[in-house]
Amino acid sequence: MSAKTPADSLVFFGATGDLAHKKIFDALQSLVHRGSLTVPVVGVARSGMNLEQLVARAKDGIKKYGRGLNEAAFATLCSRLKYIDGDYGDPSTFQRLREALGPAAHPLHYLAIPPALFGSVCTHLGSSGCAAGARVIVEKPFGRDRASANALNDLLHGVFEERSIFRMDHYLGKEAVQNILYFRFANAFLEPVWNRQHIRQIQITMAESFGVEGRGAFYDATGTLRDVIQNHLLQVVAFLCMEAPDWSQTERTRDEQVRLFRAVRSLGPSDIARGQFEGYLSEAGVAPGSMTETFASVRLAIDNWRWEGVPIFIRAGKHLPANATEVRVEFHRPPQVVFHERIPPNRNFVRFQISPRIEIGLNAEVKRDGTEMDGEQLELLAIDQQSDEMTPYERLIGDALRGDGTLFARADSIDECWRIVDGAIGGGNLMRYAPASWGPECDDERLLPPGGWHAPRVATKA
Ligand code: BG6
Repeated sequence: MSAKTPADSLVFFGATGDLAHKKIFDALQSLVHRGSLTVPVVGVARSGMNLEQLVARAKDGIKKYGRGLNEAAFATLCSRLKYIDGDYGDPSTFQRLREALGPAAHPLHYLAIPPALFGSVCTHLGSSGCAAGARVIVEKPFGRDRASANALNDLLHGVFEERSIFRMDHYLGKEAVQNILYFRFANAFLEPVWNRQHIRQIQITMAESFGVEGRGAFYDATGTLRDVIQNHLLQVVAFLCMEAPDWSQTERTRDEQVRLFRAVRSLGPSDIARGQFEGYLSEAGVAPGSMTETFASVRLAIDNWRWEGVPIFIRAGKHLPANATEVRVEFHRPPQVVFHERIPPNRNFVRFQISPRIEIGLNAEVKRDGTEMDGEQLELLAIDQQSDEMTPYERLIGDALRGDGTLFARADSIDECWRIVDGAIGGGNLMRYAPASWGPECDDERLLPPGGWHAPRVATKA
């Protein structure tokens, strides 16, 4: 199978699960609407449901969590949908799947199931003949640390070739994340100053105003560092800091990402500040006395020519005062103070807001009207968009159906990301913080950005 052979059927495991309910059916409906999903779809789960019940659940999910029901597209999707109810450990489930696939020679298997089940599903896909000529999409979390991620890779490689494995990180499917890379390299003005000579620091804040939302057991076994920093936010760092990729070549693009990750210094236990919101211990599914963090901040260093000495601060947490993910790339001050009326002038910075809006803002000083040579900071907004036209799931499932793996994580990239965070897992002291605060007070100067953290800009826009 050539890397870009389109899939001739889509199988998704976990068809009655939460992810399918909230995200996947909505994405499939949109793909059908756009004409990008024209192949049979087979849902697999072990729930005791039948096809009719699955369809009703899908409709409910699209209405509640998706972008609304599109009657025509949904009807077309349902006309292509089959359902297999069976145990993932039972070979007969996979024999029925092979029969349901009929003449399909290049199925795309989407494992929207807990990682503990990957092993059994992959083994049976292999022995039933369903893996031949196939690709597989694997959901996060991809391992719990470097060793378990590598064990998972070995397991997948026992059944699928690396180029047929599509590791999903939905941040790579976000328009705003792709735009970081695009904006850097499609323009001439940014790259000459995008380096240690001009940039003082980078801050990334991923703030969520809600808690663990019924996912207590999952979250408690995971924590913030593994949940969003090891994957989503390191991918953002790669797009912010990597060298220019050759976008037309999937592997050349992924090579550049990995090259950047290789230059990121491994974190140790003292490179992280961890917090837990007050009240977390009474969430359902959370272990008594749990020491899992719901907030983490780290300081990264990149040991390469472009970034030597530029600190990258990342913080992420639940129950923070805002719901926003934003990057701030801050420049050094001008070398001298020319206009004495206001000392010191503000620093220039570029702001990439990933959510809730998609924004790219260049912040600069301009002179105020009047006789004084005094100024104020103004933002030049390069883009300001409510949200993605396509959801990340729609974008990424569509890419995988076409066989384009550019926006999926390769095994070596996953390995590097775990190498970076592994030493910081469970590190630092766990401090409590009040819900709706910006996390615990951190008394380690090294973990605090010079000039302090900047909150994402959300208050000004509805
Ligand atoms: C998921 C995490 O991967 O990403 C969640 O498991 C987190 O804890 C979510 O809330 C954030 O995604 P988004 O797209 O809402 O920023």
